[in-house]
Amino acid sequence: MSRRGLVAGNWKMNGLIGVADSLVGGILDGLAKRAGKSVCEVLVCPPFTAIQSVGKRVGGTAIRLGGQNMSEHKPGAHTGEITGQMLTELGCTYVILGHSERRSMYGEDSALVSRKMASAYRDGLTPIVCVGETLAERESNRTLDVIGEQVSAIFPNLPADEAKRQQLVLAYEPVWAIGTGKTASPEQAQEVHAFIRKMLVDKLGNDTASKVRILYGGSVKPDNASVIFSKPDVDGGLIGGAALKAEDFLGIIDGFPG
Ligand code: PGA
Repeated sequence: MSRRGLVAGNWKMNGLIGVADSLVGGILDGLAKRAGKSVCEVLVCPPFTAIQSVGKRVGGTAIRLGGQNMSEHKPGAHTGEITGQMLTELGCTYVILGHSERRSMYGEDSALVSRKMASAYRDGLTPIVCVGETLAERESNRTLDVIGEQVSAIFPNLPADEAKRQQLVLAYEPVWAIGTGKTASPEQAQEVHAFIRKMLVDKLGNDTASKVRILYGGSVKPDNASVIFSKPDVDGGLIGGAALKAEDFLGIIDGFPG
């Protein structure tokens, strides 16, 4: 497979600086013990207030740093918002966009998420665009329609630059599996991932589509990670709860060797 595995920790609104520092310290210690082994790409996305401190620890290491959200706007009068440049200044190379909590709690729709994606590229960040259906949507057999709408929205705002297109990361996170302990079965995940891959092939061509990574998220734990990651179109995971304990996060990383 030409795609490198990626395991990303979404710390959400957790982690005062001291806690964040010791969490990343634990992850760094664990990765040091795996030196010489083939390990997937590892990303941590702390809350904004801990990015600088965590960034100092991961600088020069293999751990990548990301934000959990950003504004679509350029600098200006947008109280409470932050730009992508503010993230890159702190060492971030990734940003999570359109997480289901942003969509459901803060009214972010697919058009806004798509504009944020364009801003992320403009500011030099790799976007991780999240998509996913609710339980009601799955139960009424609308999963692929919903995913289709959410993925389609990004195409008009993708940069023309082929290298940038190939950097894109998507995350399939069924809303009913996030923080609930219910995981999509590996087959359910693969079905949606393959559907997304087909959309990418149709729109962007085989070459680009085969480079774009599609992560799975929703109650991934050390004991279910490797079976989910073994599916051909699952290129890693976006991890919430289990990213808050170094041991669990490392156990998930072990589920996706380089
Ligand atoms: P979870 O969250 O791993 O706690 O289910 C995943 C996410 O929200 O990204």
